[in-house]
Amino acid sequence: MKKLVILSGAGISAESGISTFRDAGGLWDKYPVMQVASIEGYEADPELVINFYNERRKQLLDVKPNQGHMLCAELEKYFDVTVVTQNVDNLHERAGSHNIIHLHGELTKVCSSYNPNNPKYIKELKPEEFEVKMGDKAGDGSQLRPFIVWFGEDVPRIADAAYEAEKADIFVIIGTSMNVYPAAGLLNYVPYNAEVYLIDPKDVYIDTERKITHIKKGASEGMKELMRLIAEG
Ligand code: OAD
Repeated sequence: MKKLVILSGAGISAESGISTFRDAGGLWDKYPVMQVASIEGYEADPELVINFYNERRKQLLDVKPNQGHMLCAELEKYFDVTVVTQNVDNLHERAGSHNIIHLHGELTKVCSSYNPNNPKYIKELKPEEFEVKMGDKAGDGSQLRPFIVWFGEDVPRIADAAYEAEKADIFVIIGTSMNVYPAAGLLNYVPYNAEVYLIDPKDVYIDTERKITHIKKGASEGMKELMRLIAEG
């Protein structure tokens, strides 16, 4: 089976009703990014940051995967698929994808404030636990914090993602502005003879000279078009 690697971003969840970050009216227009998505912001006002992610976590209960996510899962019938996602939502899981690398963490999980990546203290929340409060403690006695990779923090899963990208026969970039590194640098690991597709309704600047087939559509229509193109190829 050929290896197909998907790099997804906020745009794949837009049709499910979750805001992107950098489009007009996106999350970073409403909230200062360094306040809610940086380690400095968390240290300055943990309660504000915990509440921001509480709201986003509760939103998961009101949204569902769209056809874009569904088709990523369906590709497993034909390819050995790995989804590398920058998204912290759980819509790829709920659509049925099996191999998912969350580069920027997961909303449904919490961890220690002292050592966010210590697996001993990473905990999956049940829906009734989605509201984390100040004073809720991790196993090491520190404040429970969202299991999110913030600006200024390591991206521990990037090595796993690069390992998958290196094996890709087909690489699909969907719904990401390719602004955030190291995620955006994953394309550099993709073999030069692999086919590369971009699904995004807008132009996306990608720093490469290699050939990229741009399917200029939203996630659902774009994934349908991708299925047609790779079935022909
Ligand atoms: P961005 O908001 O930067 O980019 C979203 C992309 O999705 C843009 O290129 C849009 O054109 C595209 N888009 C919009 N609607 C779409 C649709 N219906 N179908 C397909 N594409 C669509 O989001 P990301 O690139 O994911 O990190 O942002 C990367 C990281 O920056 C996030 O993971 C987050 C953020 O800061 C952290 O919070 C750590």
